[in-house]
Amino acid sequence: MSVIAVLIGSQGRGSNMANLIRAGRDGRMLAEVRLVISPKADTPAVAVARELGLDPIILPYKSENYTDRLLGCLRSHQINLVCLAGYLTLLPGSVLEAFPHRVLNIHPALLPKFGGKGMYGMHVHQAVVTAGETETGATVHYVTEHYDEGAIIDQERCPVASTDTPESLSERVLACEHRLYPRAVNQVLGA
Ligand code: GRF
Repeated sequence: MSVIAVLIGSQGRGSNMANLIRAGRDGRMLAEVRLVISPKADTPAVAVARELGLDPIILPYKSENYTDRLLGCLRSHQINLVCLAGYLTLLPGSVLEAFPHRVLNIHPALLPKFGGKGMYGMHVHQAVVTAGETETGATVHYVTEHYDEGAIIDQERCPVASTDTPESLSERVLACEHRLYPRAVNQVLGA
């Protein structure tokens, strides 16, 4: 059984993290989340991880020896696959080198549209509504040293209604994300 680490961000609700934890337990995903790493201790996502029986490691982005400590955690937990879920900064190159084709990210739009620096959270859904798109969705892709640029693994699409607000759209896209991420993990693991 492959072992996953989920890296969350400082503002995340942790819904993708929780979904991956549950998917590993209920058989939707053929891998188990055994490690959650958060840059902040007091986020809703950390509380959710604890409710689900995991004790997140707190590793602030700017902590001394960030890269070595991150690699140390991943190695000591014998992690095979790293899943970013709301992680808002670029990963150090040496982490990507240590896990070739084993670091994934989920983005709340159909990349390559609506990606890149500054395109996160509600900014993405606002841009989709402003552009008058009739379709949006979610993308899981490999992580590189640039924002949202790695090869696409899988996408899940949903319609945009003319009455949609960024908020209403974000709920529909989040449902897509939750179907997509476990499926994309299975694909990467060849399961
Ligand atoms: C998701 O929309 C994901 O696509 C993006 O960050 C958000 C995290 O949401 N990368 P959550 O914390 O998993 O609910």
